[in-house]
Amino acid sequence: MEAGKPVDSEKKHRLMVQQAYPATLDTPESEASSFVAGTVSQYACQRRTTLNNCNKKFTDAFEILAENYEFRENEVPCLAFMRAASVLKCLPFTIVRMGDLEGLPCLGGEIRNVIEEITEEGESSRAKDVLTDERYQSFKLFISVFGVGLKTSEKWYRMGFRILEEVKADKTLKLSRMQKAGFLYYEDLVSGVSKAEADAVSLIVKDAVRTFLPDALVTITGGFRRGKKIGHDVDFLITSPGLRQEEEVLHKVIDLWKKQGLLLYYDLVESTLEQAKLPSRKVDAFDHFQKCFAILKLHQQRVDTRSCDTSKESDKAEVKDWKAIRVDLVVSPFEQYAYALLGWTGSRQFERDLRRYATHERKMMLDNHALYDKTKRIFLKAKSEEEIFAHLGLDYLEPWERNA
Ligand code: UTP
Ligand code: MN
Repeated sequence: MEAGKPVDSEKKHRLMVQQAYPATLDTPESEASSFVAGTVSQYACQRRTTLNNCNKKFTDAFEILAENYEFRENEVPCLAFMRAASVLKCLPFTIVRMGDLEGLPCLGGEIRNVIEEITEEGESSRAKDVLTDERYQSFKLFISVFGVGLKTSEKWYRMGFRILEEVKADKTLKLSRMQKAGFLYYEDLVSGVSKAEADAVSLIVKDAVRTFLPDALVTITGGFRRGKKIGHDVDFLITSPGLRQEEEVLHKVIDLWKKQGLLLYYDLVESTLEQAKLPSRKVDAFDHFQKCFAILKLHQQRVDTRSCDTSKESDKAEVKDWKAIRVDLVVSPFEQYAYALLGWTGSRQFERDLRRYATHERKMMLDNHALYDKTKRIFLKAKSEEEIFAHLGLDYLEPWERNA
């Protein structure tokens, strides 16, 4: 009324509707009317998925079940549950009854049963069982250490370890350099990275890179580019339109940070670009870029608010005014920048489906370096992500719509 005309419908305009009503009544007019379940694609790259998840109750359960399958190296149901979670994340409404699933892909068999139980009981007994499962709990703890994956977790579990204290207490265990750093900075790393911390790291990275490459393009990728407010690390993509000087820049940045005492850990992986030929066929393949997996010391103005009872100990000890942050730096040649950016922005599910779509729907091969058209037998050049979507015949999705 104030505007004197109809305005766009927003969340605050919604009426809270009783659960017994059809779910679509619960959604704003514009979203509900533009949403047709039968048009939801099986490919995440054809679905706009923001961080606004109306079906968290379901997707949380699916992700727990998927992870449990992953820990048991049971890939097929793991992927099925992850795909199902991804489909529900794009819906503009909350599932309240089984009829709401009509026309939606990837929600067959076992998955339907889980949904049914949650709509009826409010929770999934299977997911609850997994959460109390000893193996699941131990694997969760083990993989929370930087440098520990499924293989190591498996080994530790078979050795009888269940909690991290037991692993740490065993002095005969041979830990990798990465795992040692993982234990050393465990508390900081497990607490996650906030957007503010990511922005602070971003300044440090840009500053360092541009000291040596003034015209460098430094872009934050990964979850933060998709609008996430918290992440497990901060990912950066570095390139430069100049000649091949970008090969040296990572070494120089590392040396600078070492001198400044900012580098708590790093692993520099040299580029294997000259070995790369056609785009990789694998859906979850590693790329060939030069990269650095690091832990950076981020100095903070004010340390997090500690509770009073710990202040006695910290009277004696030096007050820690920094936080360890996981940072990934990736350097790409300028011609491959758009592909690298698309590949490193994620989400993982989005990337997986993008490659699957390219292969199965377009007879093309996509990876973090290039797009190859198998019919025309040519590489398709792209200066921007928009051009890559266009090559694939896909509507463009903004980074924040790739939270599949
Ligand atoms: P991350 O593992 O950092 O995920 O990889 P994320 O989405 O930023 O989420 P956080 O960090 O857990 O909050 C970022 C993206 O980079 C790609 C993946 O597609 C992933 O989505 N990636 C990662 C690669 O292409 N290659 C790699 O070796 C690693
Ligand atoms: Mn990340």
